[in-house]
Amino acid sequence: MSVVRIEHLTKIYTPRRSLGQRLRGVAQPPGFQALDDVNLTIEAGEFFGLLGPNGAGKTTLISVLAGLSAATQGHVSVCGYDVAHDAARARRALGVVPQELVFDPFFTVRETLRIQSGYFGLRRNDDWIDEILASLGLADKADTNMRALSGGMKRRVLVAQALVHRPPVIVLDEPTAGVDVDLRRTLWEFIVRLNQQGHTILLTTHYLEEAEALCGRVAMLKAGRIVALDRTAALVRQVGGADLEEAFVRIMRGDPALAGGTSEAARAEDEPTEVSA
Ligand SMILES: Nc1ncnc2c1ncn2[C@@H]1O[C@H](COP(=O)(O)OP(=O)(O)O)[C@@H](O)[C@H]1O
Ligand SMILES: [Mg+2]
Repeated sequence: MSVVRIEHLTKIYTPRRSLGQRLRGVAQPPGFQALDDVNLTIEAGEFFGLLGPNGAGKTTLISVLAGLSAATQGHVSVCGYDVAHDAARARRALGVVPQELVFDPFFTVRETLRIQSGYFGLRRNDDWIDEILASLGLADKADTNMRALSGGMKRRVLVAQALVHRPPVIVLDEPTAGVDVDLRRTLWEFIVRLNQQGHTILLTTHYLEEAEALCGRVAMLKAGRIVALDRTAALVRQVGGADLEEAFVRIMRGDPALAGGTSEAARAEDEPTEVSA
C-alpha cells in the first residue's frame, strides 16, 4: 500500500502585497517556484531518503505533506487521506520532526508531550509518553523545563513530540544536523527500531553516508525537481560512483552522461538500471 502519494506537486511561494500596494495597483510580483511537478510514491514500511542541497525544496515538500503549506498544483495524500480535503486525518497519520527547534520554553518535557497529545484528542497518554521518553534517553528530563534543556535534548523532545499519537508515517527533516555523535546514534537506533516495527520513515539528511546505510530508496531533489529516484544501491551502481556521496555529487553537477537515466529508473525500480548515453 502506498502511504505517501505525491502527484504533480508544484509549489510557488507568492510574496504578499500590502494593502497599500494593492490599493495603489502595484502588480503582483512573480512568485518563487520551490517545487516543480514532483511525483513520488512511498510504500508502507519503506525507509525513504529525500536528499538535495540547501534550497532544493525538501522542507517545502514536507510542509505540504504536513498540511502546513498549500500546494499550488497537484495532489498529495497520506495513508489515502488528501492533505487538502481530509487535512485532519492526513495530519494524524503523520509524525513530523521539524528542521527548526520551536518550543514553548515555559512547559516541562512531559507537559509539552501532553499538550501535543491533546492536539490529537488523546487523554491519559502517559504510559506511551513514558515509553517514548525512555527510548530517547529523556526519562530523567520529564519534569525539566524546555528552556533548561541543551540543544541535543530539545531535539530528542522534537522526536518524542512527533510520536505521541503513534503515527504510521514518520517524517524527519534533517534530524541530525548539528547534533553530536552520541545523539545521532541514539536517534538512528530508535528510528531503525520504529521502522522495523512497521513505521514508514521519510528522512531528509545531508549525511549521505547515513542515508546510504539507512534508506532502501532515495530521491534527489534539485531546484524543486526530482532528478534521481531509485533503490539506493541501484542508484549508486547506475551512476558509477563509489558511494552515495559520489553519486549525489555527480547527479547534482548534472553529469551529461546521466541525462534522463536516473529518473527513468524510478519507473522500473526493481529492474537492473542502466545509464542512457
Ligand atoms: N515561505 C517562503 N517564502 C518564499 N520562499 C521560500 C519560503 N520557504 C522556502 N522558500 C524558498 O524555497 C526554496 C526551497 O526551500 P526549502 O524547501 O526550505 O529547501 P530545503 O529544505 O531543501 O533546504 C528556497 O529557495 C527557499 O528560499
Ligand atoms: Mg530544509
